[in-house]
Amino acid sequence: MNNDIIIRAEKVSKLYGKNKKEASELLKNGADKDTVYKKTGVTAALWDVSFEVKRGEIFAIIGLSGSGKSTIIRCFNLLNKPTSGKIYYEEKDIAQFNKQEILNYRRNKISMVFQNFGLMSHRTVLENIAYGLEVRNVPRAERVQRAKEMTAMVGLEGWEDKPISSLSGGMKQRVGLARALANDPEVLLMDEPFSALDPLVKRDMQFELLSIQSKLEKTVIFITHDINEAFKLGDTVAIMRDGKIIQIDTPENMSTHPADDYVRQFIDSADKTQVLSVKHVMVPPACLVKPKDMPSHAIREMANNDVSTAYVVNEKMQFLGIVSIDDAIRARDENLPLPTFINTDVLTCHEDTLISDVLSLAAKSRYPLAVLDNEKKLKGIISKAAVLASL
Ligand SMILES: Nc1ncnc2c1ncn2[C@@H]1O[C@H](COP(=O)(O)OP(=O)(O)O)[C@@H](O)[C@H]1O
Ligand SMILES: [Mg+2]
Repeated sequence: MNNDIIIRAEKVSKLYGKNKKEASELLKNGADKDTVYKKTGVTAALWDVSFEVKRGEIFAIIGLSGSGKSTIIRCFNLLNKPTSGKIYYEEKDIAQFNKQEILNYRRNKISMVFQNFGLMSHRTVLENIAYGLEVRNVPRAERVQRAKEMTAMVGLEGWEDKPISSLSGGMKQRVGLARALANDPEVLLMDEPFSALDPLVKRDMQFELLSIQSKLEKTVIFITHDINEAFKLGDTVAIMRDGKIIQIDTPENMSTHPADDYVRQFIDSADKTQVLSVKHVMVPPACLVKPKDMPSHAIREMANNDVSTAYVVNEKMQFLGIVSIDDAIRARDENLPLPTFINTDVLTCHEDTLISDVLSLAAKSRYPLAVLDNEKKLKGIISKAAVLASL
């Protein structure tokens, strides 16, 4: 048993319709969802879906509408029963739970945040947030206390007694989130929670979720059809099509190694600067010199490589600065050693920096940025053009 895996799906399929047997046979032989529906009238909402979610991670699921995202997430909280396959929570088959275990699971382990908020409009903010605790017969004083804490957690202090109807969409979603958190679940299930929000509010909510998650260290299963959102939030991203999982990967690996054209199409619509780091667009410096090199050698190197600056590194490949061809010529003519002219005033960045974070640096730098690793070793250089080309 791997303690790190909190929840996992094993070969989960969900078929809607009568003729499931024939549909299964077709699916086993590789038929796609459309063909199966035409031949049997059965909708294969999920087929052979397996994945693991690690404790404390944000696991994002993306896919076009109808690809099975809601169906799988609803299997996790027992709203859907798989046609075949199993869901394990901490390695226990949730289909085998007895009544008491189901109750405990729903109340203490797993909570859902819906897209349409699912709030009770005749109740106040605080009453909505405390609702789950009320159902569990938590004493009034305690649930008010807890609900107040959660109200603050999602940034709604001062709104406790307001009616739901007076809230904006973003605020309603905060209430939905606070209500789910009030139960202190291990796992938060979020089914396109921010899809209905306008872009700026959406960005605030994403930030809110990330900061709450870093504080509370909940496991989050987050569904979205927005690749940027999946990449921004997800530690792991699973992409679905027609009821199947196509690829499960880190955002970075998915961007650089999309499994097929479907994934590639999603990736193409993504803002890659938010995912890719500098090391993905850097190039090797055309011309490297060492401090002990003769100026004439440096000049020749630059001339041979058709560049007007050389990157200077020591024996350990640690970056020292650059020399221009003009300075190297001066050094030669005045018979001075090369290090006299090393320009250390060069902007550097770490190889793991996100491209979006070096945009302004690259824009104002006179020279390509020097890309360094943890030991200050020169790994490559990154030009303004390369940064812009990655956009
Ligand atoms: N109760 C149902 N009866 C029949 N088909 C359903 C039912 N629920 C979902 N489906 C079908 O299952 C597929 C997956 O749906 P869903 O999980 O809601 O997709 P998503 O959330 O990715 O948009 C769709 O083709 C949908 O029409
Ligand atoms: Mg859905």
